[in-house]
Amino acid sequence: MSVRQVEVGGAEPYRITIGAGLLRDGGLLAQPLRGRHALVVSDANVAPLHASTVIDALRSARPDARIASHVMPAGEQEKTLSRFGDAVDALAALGATRDACVYALGGGVVGDLAGFAAACWMRGIDCVQLPTTLLAMVDSSVGGKTAVDLPQGKNLVGAFHPPIAVVADTGTLRTLPARELRAGLAEVVKYGAIVDASFLDWLAAHSDTLLGGDADALSEAIARSCTHKAAIVERDPFEHGERALLNFGHTFGHAIETAQDYGTLNHGEAVAVGMVLAARLSTALGLATDTDAMILQALLQRFGLPTALPAGLDPDVLLAHMRLDKKAQASGLRFVLWEGLGRARVVPDVPEEAVLGILRNA
Ligand code: NAD
Ligand code: GLY
Repeated sequence: MSVRQVEVGGAEPYRITIGAGLLRDGGLLAQPLRGRHALVVSDANVAPLHASTVIDALRSARPDARIASHVMPAGEQEKTLSRFGDAVDALAALGATRDACVYALGGGVVGDLAGFAAACWMRGIDCVQLPTTLLAMVDSSVGGKTAVDLPQGKNLVGAFHPPIAVVADTGTLRTLPARELRAGLAEVVKYGAIVDASFLDWLAAHSDTLLGGDADALSEAIARSCTHKAAIVERDPFEHGERALLNFGHTFGHAIETAQDYGTLNHGEAVAVGMVLAARLSTALGLATDTDAMILQALLQRFGLPTALPAGLDPDVLLAHMRLDKKAQASGLRFVLWEGLGRARVVPDVPEEAVLGILRNA
């Protein structure tokens, strides 16, 4: 199978390399390592499966380097300031200098937390993202958003810190639980929903092969998703405008995750529900048709994703979380809504009553 490359341009350009077996490629992994200190950050699920591959590859390419590993507990509930402190402690124990490099090996939780540690250590050292979930390959490893959660809300403490390289070894997806693969497909669907209706058709036509873990289909989905994300973050790296479109479904989704204490639905599942609710809100405000919302919902259901609000969530509590969402502004709630398949836009000052109406009927 071929190796694909997607370039992310802008002030700090970098390359996304996608292919099977790339974690064994010491030359590729070590190429961005300027200094002599590397910290491989991973979690308790991923480390036993893939960390030794990375460390062996780095050691063979750079026998002069000090390479340490730091393993955090797995899960969204661990994306905390306290675990961030542990990662920074590991950099201190390594004696990492300003030319050190953090290798974030894992899903979006590891990527966001390790990326934030790299952003803060000595005011910023290099970070190579080595995503091992589909979600991280198509979204969180690209674009430089790094953060940890607070009990009050998702990703409330963080920094923009673009990686120096992204290496997505699609072979790691073979060990990924099916539920996590489906969660990644939610973010893949998002790109089609916001900017590329033809991608939605392609996803519908390839749903069985994607769910079956077909390497070629996954590689194509990852490359197309990364191409869309690269184009957007290149034009708007700090989310002053267009980048906000990438948050389609996330205002509802983050509120669900926070209300559930980051426990029940995972991020991709919460985003799937959030996209359906955002589509319905668009319909309720007269921006889009019911038919488009139904097409989106059907595709998400085909991928085995939830599309209904979990029972027991209080609409008023969800609304309170949305007020603290980073996308909200002093003037009121701001949502990414759409005008139909492939056509999203940011809508400010969405009336709270309209949002509550959607939540109460979800
Ligand atoms: P995750 O990192 O929790 O990974 C999901 C689960 O899969 C974990 O239990 C993990 O240990 C396990 N896992 C990972 N790779 C594996 C593999 N190859 N084999 C076996 N198990 C594996 O979750 P995620 O869905 O990857 O990421 C979600 C996070 O990403 C959220 O915190 C979200 O806020 C963040 N995110 C960030 C951005 C961004 O732009 N920075 C974008 C989207 C999402
Ligand atoms: N996942 C949203 C963003 O990167 O902007």
